[in-house]
Amino acid sequence: MLSLQQSHHRPIGRRRSRKTRLAVLSATTAATLGLAFLATPTADAHHATRHDRYGHHSHHSQHSHGPAYLNPKLSTKTRVADLLGRMTLAEKIGQMTQAERIDIDANPSLITTYGLGSILSGGGSTPAQNNAAGWADMVDRYQRAALATRLGIPMIYGVDSVHGHGNMQGATVFPHNIGLGATRDPKLVEKIGHVTAIETRASGVPWVFAPCICVARDDRWGRTYESFGEDPKLVESMETVIDGLQGHPGQLDQRDHVLATAKHFAGDGLTTYDASKAGTGAYPIDQGVDHVTRAEFEKYALSVYKPAIKRHHVGSVMPSFSSVDFTDGLTDGQDGAVKMHANRELITGWLKGQQHFDGFVISDWRAIRQLPGDYTAQVKTSVLAGVDMFMEPIQAPNNPNGWDVFIPTLTGLVNSGQVPISRIDDAVSRILTAKFNLGLFEHPFTDRSLQSTVGDAAHHALARRAAAESQVLLKNSSRTLPLHARADRPVYVAGSNANNIGNQAGGWTLTWQGGSTNVIPGTTILDGIKQYAPGATYSADASAAVPSNAAGVVVVGETPYAEGFGDVGGPQWAYDPGDHGVPRQPQTMQLSAADRTAIDKVCSQAASCTVLVVSGRPIILPPEVVAEADAIVASWLPGSEGAGVADDLFGTRAFTGKLPVTWPRTLDQEPINVGDANYDPLYPFGWGLTTRRR
Ligand code: GLC
Repeated sequence: MLSLQQSHHRPIGRRRSRKTRLAVLSATTAATLGLAFLATPTADAHHATRHDRYGHHSHHSQHSHGPAYLNPKLSTKTRVADLLGRMTLAEKIGQMTQAERIDIDANPSLITTYGLGSILSGGGSTPAQNNAAGWADMVDRYQRAALATRLGIPMIYGVDSVHGHGNMQGATVFPHNIGLGATRDPKLVEKIGHVTAIETRASGVPWVFAPCICVARDDRWGRTYESFGEDPKLVESMETVIDGLQGHPGQLDQRDHVLATAKHFAGDGLTTYDASKAGTGAYPIDQGVDHVTRAEFEKYALSVYKPAIKRHHVGSVMPSFSSVDFTDGLTDGQDGAVKMHANRELITGWLKGQQHFDGFVISDWRAIRQLPGDYTAQVKTSVLAGVDMFMEPIQAPNNPNGWDVFIPTLTGLVNSGQVPISRIDDAVSRILTAKFNLGLFEHPFTDRSLQSTVGDAAHHALARRAAAESQVLLKNSSRTLPLHARADRPVYVAGSNANNIGNQAGGWTLTWQGGSTNVIPGTTILDGIKQYAPGATYSADASAAVPSNAAGVVVVGETPYAEGFGDVGGPQWAYDPGDHGVPRQPQTMQLSAADRTAIDKVCSQAASCTVLVVSGRPIILPPEVVAEADAIVASWLPGSEGAGVADDLFGTRAFTGKLPVTWPRTLDQEPINVGDANYDPLYPFGWGLTTRRR
């Protein structure tokens, strides 16, 4: 995909299409970088690891008095201490290093050479065979390279399963978090976490960069849909998704659980909209600055991390790209805005110190390069702030370097005494603890026994239930809903989002940004309607004649986006493999002209008129639209089972959803949140009519 050169204000090109592969670094490059010593096994290697014909890793020493770290009967604490004591500095720093799969896919021996501790898939970075078997083959191939290192430490693979394993074709794709917040159903969300863990781990991936426990306060933010809502208590109630993902403590080594990541620490959803950046190619609000008091930050940013750690035992935390500038005091002893990745007071002081977080902190995508100073300063600041593992993809030619420079830079900082070995040992101990708890030393390769459940009927039934429970009925005059499929009431369907599974799935689906032409298994909203009204007329632009006495349904809303590209006034991502060259729309939080036309046509001709809004956040509905629609539904981003929306429309399920965010009257009301003074939205936080029969 087109990438924009990284500069201070322009978004960095972060993902590459599968078509263009990285000219990978060769082992010779590693040698020239003076890292060849990494690859030479030392004489004191206590054991040779053997791979039986299944590629399973067996330590002959396990049958003798092998090293303690390989003995599963010993405590994790003991095993970590033993292994740490055997590691060279280079091996320790390797464990703190995360590469992107594109950097090493053509030459996995780089994992062995550098002793890389982790690999990730960025959004849309998928194996050629993009199914569970293809993923497992890929991850296991990388794992073999990791096990070929001197100490045979398994690598940990991470991916953004933010609404199911969205990157993987065939995965069950659930509603994005904003729709789950609308369900107010913590048990449902826990089940979704569990199914997500099953489908992710079956593909070989034991770690997900989810959930975002962001509290979205300004809906112009492109990541609003990744938030469960604007109220920290609501977000907290949805953290049951972590239990679904991880299981209870001690269950992380099971085939149906993965390590979760609470992100993005902290205050990613509290940034202030900077109108001067709108239309300039920079992000007006994503990755911005929280201008808040310490009390506000405590309430809206930090509070949600306490239960994530203490009650749900989340295994990793990812800092935010954003910064915080306390309006009532210094941040980390510094005046002005401090990047969260540089925030020692909050990562080491508050998260690890006060909250006793015992997992590990993973940096966001090349986020440390946004810190002040040169790269050495950036690495030093973030390591000392308490970051443990570094997501430093190369993705050349987009970026001139990444983890290949991170490793010698951190090595130099330790050797010169600027970073104490105690900090390195703390980071590595945290990372190894997670790997032992995940069972990666005993079972480094994929357990494929649940691959048959990926995308199966039971998982899709859950997605359909979630889509139904996430629907919020905003208006229902003269009991227009539920519709009854009757011969004398033909159904007429229009609108840009009635029959587009890519749009209803949204970002982080097959590709990073998602795409209107991304196709995944499932049902569109139109498919669902036709299950109830097989003879329904469909005309996206409402150009077809509207039968008399018709029940009109107009499905409008947004096209997919992710991160800052979804900011109102944010840059347009030139194209995405999922778009097949279809130019992307700027995000405005307004109805498109085509959708407005479709609403006007249908509502003026049909006997009744229902408007469904498929979007990652509230869309501004002009007063005339609110007046002419008999019923209005917030459908959010329902994911792969649009049929769940039809279940509410036709009364199989009652509408029960409640607004997780305030629905503004106009854009200039943003940010507008429950509790504000002079609170005068179109529909308030918590609003939602029901069609439940008395
Ligand atoms: C992105 C996002 C983060 C994601 C990471 C890896 O920049 O900020 O949420 O987990 O990169 O894809």
